[in-house]
Amino acid sequence: MYILSLAIALVPLAVHTSASFLSVLASRPEPSQFNAYLSQFPRLTTTISTVDNATLLIPSNTAFTKWLQNTVPPLTASDIENTLNYHIIHGTFPVASFTNTAQFVPSFLTNTSYSNVTEGLLVGLINIDGNPQIRSGLGTNSSIVTPDLIANGGLIHILDSVLRLPQSQSTTAAALNLSFYTAILQVGNFLSNEEINFTDAIVELPDVTYFFPNTAGALAMFKSMSSALTHQQRDAMLEYHVVTGFVGVSSDLTNMEVIRTVQGSNLTIFVGPDGSKFVNNVKIIATDYLINNGVLHTIDGLLNPNNITAPVFSYSPLPVSRGALTGIVIGGVVIVFSISAAMSLYIRRRKRRPTARAFSNLEPTPTEDTTHTQSISGPLYELEPHEKGVIELVYDPSAHLPELAAVKMRAEPMVYRDPVTQKWTPINLPVGM
Ligand SMILES: *[C@@H]1O[C@H](CO)[C@@H](O)[C@H](O)[C@H]1NC(C)=O
Ligand SMILES: *[C@@H]1O[C@H](CO)[C@@H](O)[C@H](O)[C@H]1NC(C)=O
Ligand SMILES: *[C@@H]1O[C@H](CO)[C@@H](O)[C@H](O)[C@H]1NC(C)=O
Ligand SMILES: *[C@@H]1O[C@H](CO)[C@@H](O)[C@H](O)[C@H]1NC(C)=O
Ligand SMILES: *[C@@H]1O[C@H](CO)[C@@H](O)[C@H](O)[C@H]1NC(C)=O
Ligand SMILES: *[C@@H]1O[C@H](CO)[C@@H](O)[C@H](O)[C@H]1NC(C)=O
Ligand SMILES: *[C@@H]1O[C@H](CO)[C@@H](O)[C@H](O)[C@H]1NC(C)=O
Ligand SMILES: *[C@@H]1O[C@H](CO)[C@@H](O)[C@H](O)[C@H]1NC(C)=O
Repeated sequence: MYILSLAIALVPLAVHTSASFLSVLASRPEPSQFNAYLSQFPRLTTTISTVDNATLLIPSNTAFTKWLQNTVPPLTASDIENTLNYHIIHGTFPVASFTNTAQFVPSFLTNTSYSNVTEGLLVGLINIDGNPQIRSGLGTNSSIVTPDLIANGGLIHILDSVLRLPQSQSTTAAALNLSFYTAILQVGNFLSNEEINFTDAIVELPDVTYFFPNTAGALAMFKSMSSALTHQQRDAMLEYHVVTGFVGVSSDLTNMEVIRTVQGSNLTIFVGPDGSKFVNNVKIIATDYLINNGVLHTIDGLLNPNNITAPVFSYSPLPVSRGALTGIVIGGVVIVFSISAAMSLYIRRRKRRPTARAFSNLEPTPTEDTTHTQSISGPLYELEPHEKGVIELVYDPSAHLPELAAVKMRAEPMVYRDPVTQKWTPINLPVGM
C-alpha cells in the first residue's frame, strides 16, 4: 500500500521533468546566446523540437561568444547552423555512461559541404580521470560544465567550449604536426601537380579510415624503398593505407579483424596482450583523430602489401593488480600441478635422450614465421624468480580467433594468459615435445 502511494506520488513529478528540449534550454541561464541564435535557424529549431532519443551538447554563453568572436575567417550563417547540428547526437548519453574508452556517436551534421561521413560526423564521448569530455575535430576536448539536464526526448550537457568541426585529412595533418607523414607524401611525389588529382581523390573518399605512418623510421624506410618503386607501385602503397566504406574508430578495431583497403588487399588488426593495437605488423600510435570524411590513426611504420607478417608480441611480467591477482592465484594453483607435470616429462625426456640439453639452457629463439603465422614469446608472468616461465605460442591464423596450434617449450611454462579472452590456461605439453 505504501509502495503504491509512493508510485502515485511520483507520477506528477515524472510528467513535470519531461519538459521539451526548447523549454529546458529557455529555462537555463548558460545557453541564452545559443537560444538567441537558434531562433535564426528554423530548420534547427524544428530538429530540436521534434527529435527523440538524442543528446544536445550546448556551449555555455562564454564558450559561444568566444567562438563567434575568435573564429577566422568570420563564420557564415551556414557555418553556425551546421556547427550547431554537430552538437546534436543520436542516442541518450548520461555522463555516467562515458567510460575511459572513447565511444563515437554520429551527430546530426550530414551536410556534404561539411561531412563525408554518411551517418553524420562523429563526436567522441570519453571519461578522462573522472572528467567527462567530448572529443571533436583536430583532437579538441571539451569539458562539461552542467551535465545531464533531463528533457522530453533525451539529455542536455552544457559545454565549456564549442566543438571543433572535423576538417580534411590535410588540414588535420598540418594542425597536428604530422610532419613525417607529410614528408612521406612529398618523397612519394604525391603532392606534385602530376599526382595531386590522384592524392585528392583518395583524400576525398567518403567514410574512410586512414592509417598514417608518422615516425622517422617510416620516413627512412619509405625513402630507401621509393626509388625502386614504379609510379603505380607508389600509388598502390598509399592506397594500402586507406580504407573506404568503414569508419574504423579504435573501438571498432578488434583482434583478427580483416579490412579491405582501397588498394584491394586486406589489412589485419591485432590486439596485443597489453591492449596495444597493430595493423598487420605495424603498431598504432595515436588513435581517433576525427576528420570530415572519417577517422585517422597514426602508425609507427609503413604498411606494405608485400610484407604482411603478424606482429610478434612480447609479454612483459604482469603487474600485480587486484585483477591480475585473481589470475595469479588461479595460475598459482595450476603451477603446482604443472610443475609436477613438467618435471615428470623432463625426467622422462632425460631418460629417453640423455644428451638433450636442459630446457633452462635454451634461449627463446624467433619462430620461423611464415607469412600468416603469429608468434608470441616472452616471459608470461613473474611471481618469484624461480617461477618465471618462457614459452612460444604459434597461432593458427586459419582459425577465426587465435587458437593454440603448437607450443614450443623453452623453460618451465605453467600457464599462459590468452591475449584475446584474458583467461589463464594451463599448458598441456604436447606428447613428444
Ligand atoms: C549545406 O551547406 C551549404 C554550404 O554551406 C549550404 O549552402 C546548404 O544550405 C546546406 N544545406 C543544408 C540542408 O543545411
Ligand atoms: C537510442 O539511440 C541509440 C543510438 O542510436 C540506440 O542504440 C537506442 O536503441 C535508441 N533507443 C531507443 C529507445 O530508441
Ligand atoms: C565530400 O565529397 C564531395 C565529392 O564526393 C566533395 O565535393 C565535398 O567537398 C566533400 N566534402 C568535404 C567536407 O570534404
Ligand atoms: C583529449 O582527449 C584524449 C583522449 O580522448 C587525450 O588522449 C588527449 O590527451 C586530450 N587532449 C588534451 C589536449 O587534453
Ligand atoms: C613538429 O614535429 C617536428 C618533428 O617531430 C618537430 O621537430 C617540430 O618542433 C614540431 N613542431 C611543432 C610546432 O610542434
Ligand atoms: C587534374 O584535375 C584537373 C581538374 O579536374 C585537370 O584540369 C588536370 O588536367 C588534372 N591533372 C592531371 C595531371 O591529370
Ligand atoms: C579480404 O578479406 C575478405 C573478407 O575476409 C575476403 O573475402 C577477401 O577474399 C580478402 N581479399 C584478399 C585480396 O585477400
Ligand atoms: C616487414 O615489416 C616488419 C615490421 O614493420 C619489418 O621489421 C621488416 O623489416 C619488413 N620486412 C621487409 C622485407 O620489408
